This record gives sequence, C-alpha cells and structure tokens, in this order.
Amino acid sequence: MNVLVIGSGGREHALVWKIAQSPMVRSLWCAPGNAGIAAERLATNGELVQCAPIGAEDLPSLLSFAQEKRIDLTVVGPDNPLALGVVDLFQEHGLRIWGPNRQAAQFESSKVFAQQFMERHCIPTMRSGAFADATEAREFAAELGGRCAVKADGLALGKGVLICRNPAEANQAIDEILVGKAFGKAGERVLIQELIEGMEVSLHFLCDGTTAKLFPSSQDHKRALDGDEGLNTGGMGTYSPAPFLTDQQFQEIADSVIQPWLKGCREEGIDYRGILYPGVMLTKDGPKVLEFNSRFGDPETQVYLPRLKSDLVGLLLASVEGRLGETTIEWSSEACVCVVMASGGYPGGYAKGIPINGLEETDRLPQTKVFHAGTATREHSVVTNGGRVLGVTCWANTLQAARDAAYSAAEKIRFDGAHFRRDIAAKALQPIRKN
Ligand code: GLY
Repeated sequence: MNVLVIGSGGREHALVWKIAQSPMVRSLWCAPGNAGIAAERLATNGELVQCAPIGAEDLPSLLSFAQEKRIDLTVVGPDNPLALGVVDLFQEHGLRIWGPNRQAAQFESSKVFAQQFMERHCIPTMRSGAFADATEAREFAAELGGRCAVKADGLALGKGVLICRNPAEANQAIDEILVGKAFGKAGERVLIQELIEGMEVSLHFLCDGTTAKLFPSSQDHKRALDGDEGLNTGGMGTYSPAPFLTDQQFQEIADSVIQPWLKGCREEGIDYRGILYPGVMLTKDGPKVLEFNSRFGDPETQVYLPRLKSDLVGLLLASVEGRLGETTIEWSSEACVCVVMASGGYPGGYAKGIPINGLEETDRLPQTKVFHAGTATREHSVVTNGGRVLGVTCWANTLQAARDAAYSAAEKIRFDGAHFRRDIAAKALQPIRKN
C-alpha cells in the first residue's frame, strides 16, 4: 500500500514510525513532515519515508498529491484539516482517508456544538453556557463567581481557552474574545464553563461509525512548568497507563462517556470514523468531560504507539471500513513515558534554526524513541523548527523505570534554550492515599 500521513508534529512522527512497521506498507509519505520523519525507514523494503512540502491545510495540493502518487490510505494527524473538510474532499474524489468528516469533527472544531451535544445526551460534564453577546456572557460568568474557563467556540491554534479565577479576569477574557475579536471568526461565540477540580485523564477511542474501541489510560501535563505552574502549552509530557486507576475504574469512566456519546451519534446521524479523544476530569462528583478532540492527542500518541502490539494500518483500515467490531487491539503491559523538550521561550515566542546535539547517542538507546515535533534539516544537521521540539519517549516494565530512562535520555540531548518539565509522571508515582 501507498500511505500518506498529513501533519508535521510529534504525533505525526509517532504515526509514521508505527505505520512504517506495517507489513502492508510499500511506500510512505508525510506532508509536510519533519527531520525525524524523513529519517524513518519502512520495515517491508528499507525505503525511507518521504516528506512532501505541502502544508496540512493546503487541501487542493494534498488531493492532487494523493491522486498523483496513487495513495491507498491517507491518515490525518491534526485537527485543522479535519475541520476544513479534508475527509469529505478526499471521499468525494474516491480516495480512502482516515479521520472524521467535517460534521463529525465538530466535536473539536466547535466547543459550543460539543457542549450542547453533551447536554442533549446526558454525558457527564460541568455547568456551562454559550454566548455571542458579551453582556449575557458577563452575567453568566458572574453567576459562577468569575471562576470559569472562557473558550472561543472555534479552533484557535490551541490558544482559545482562558482560565479565570475572578469576575474581573472573566470580563477581560470575554471582552478579548467577543469584543476585541482576538481569535477572529473562531471567537464569534464563547463557551463559558465552571472550573472544576480534580485529576485529568486522557481517553482515546478508535471509532468506525458504530463501534468504539478504548485505548489504555494516559495523562498529559499541559502547563509549561513543574507542579502544573506556568502557561498552558500543547502538552509537555505524558505517560501511559495511569496507575491511580484500576482497569475496572477506567472502563467505568470510559463507559459513562462513550455509551451516551454513541447513542447520541446514532440519534443525530453522525458517522464518526477516527479517534475520539475526550479530556476528562475526575472530580469528587464523578468523571466530567472537559472537551472532545477529534484526533489523536499530542503527546499521548507518543506513549500509545510504542505500547501498541497490533498493526496500526490494519486498525485504521478497520476504522474507515466499519470493521472494528471484528478486531481486537493488543497492547503491551509495559509503561511508557514521553518528556517533551521545548524551545527557549515556548509557549511564548522562540527562535528557530538552533542546532540539536546528542540525537545520535539517544538513537542507540534500547526501548527509547525520540519523536521529532518541531525540527528541520539544515545542511545535514537537525535544527529546531517549532515550540515543542522533541518527545523523548521510553518504555519499560515499570513506570518508574520508563520515567528514569526518559529523563536520562533527555539529559543527553542539548540545544540552546532547551527546557523540559522535571516532573512528568511524578504524581502518578506517589503512593495512593486511601481515605
Ligand atoms: N494532549 C493535548 C492535545 O493533544 O490537545
């Protein structure tokens, strides 16, 4: 098969790495890819993965490319092309593509749609309201004592969520989005959600229109600094599985979300094929869905795929073709940890083009994979090319061993300004208090 992966981050490197291991794949492309992706080789014939310089949102060029290269399966990594309708476009032209269509991708591309769907179908979530009018939005935020998340309705490059702790902050956030139009069309409406407390856990379901297969648990670390301090980021590190949940507890949490979600999709005629990734908060009143994402998590993918024993291409085909009910997904019992190394200044402004050293040494380490997120090749060297640069990922029999290995590998990699959190998976390793 000829396969095309759309995207250029750490998630897409992990997808390419796993797809390259498939016995079904004879040629693999990534658009636009990165330096790490361009160094992967196929298990079947040793060919290098090829990167095509086409942006993930340039739908007409992606379509022409897929037609010209006779691509048998296109795999969509990021949310933007899904929201723009890449799946619908490819399908209209008779091409096989994995990911939700534009209607189904609304679970991520419209926060208001997702929240109202949850309310219609009794999916556990928190108190919330959707507003286009700033005065009404301020009144609702005041009812919540100003303790709320103010979210731009549409996609806003991961920056459209403002966390507020008092009425002044809430009013400022509402004004920024609805009056100041900080996110343009994406902020024509806001969703205001009450703030809730608890531990967050990431759920991933592979869906085929009628069936949803649950992945193991994982946990992201979204703040930039240790102890969950600092600004929100795309994700600074993750691990799987989450040891503070038994398999039964995790299954119960997943069921409380996915059963009403599947029923809701059936009733509303939503044909969801792809990954559904709900972010869930475990509160003292039970699990509550914070948001839905319509694609693989980044960096969650980097800890799932090293644990996946099944052929990913076979699973993606079953998802596209509505055959997931006939498949089983096999996972290794090992734990996996990913530590994200970021550019100096990230999540604010940062420089690009800084040489990265130490990758050859980490390439030789066992049970280790350094996934590239924001890298490029300049004159035969790998340089930084984004905010999140690398996802240093290790797997081992225990979470402690995987964590130790990931930090030991990260210490071997150097680039000016590099920073990473020192506490990925640390809370998960603390003894569980039983009271
Ligand atoms: N793990 C955060 C995200 O993928 O959005």
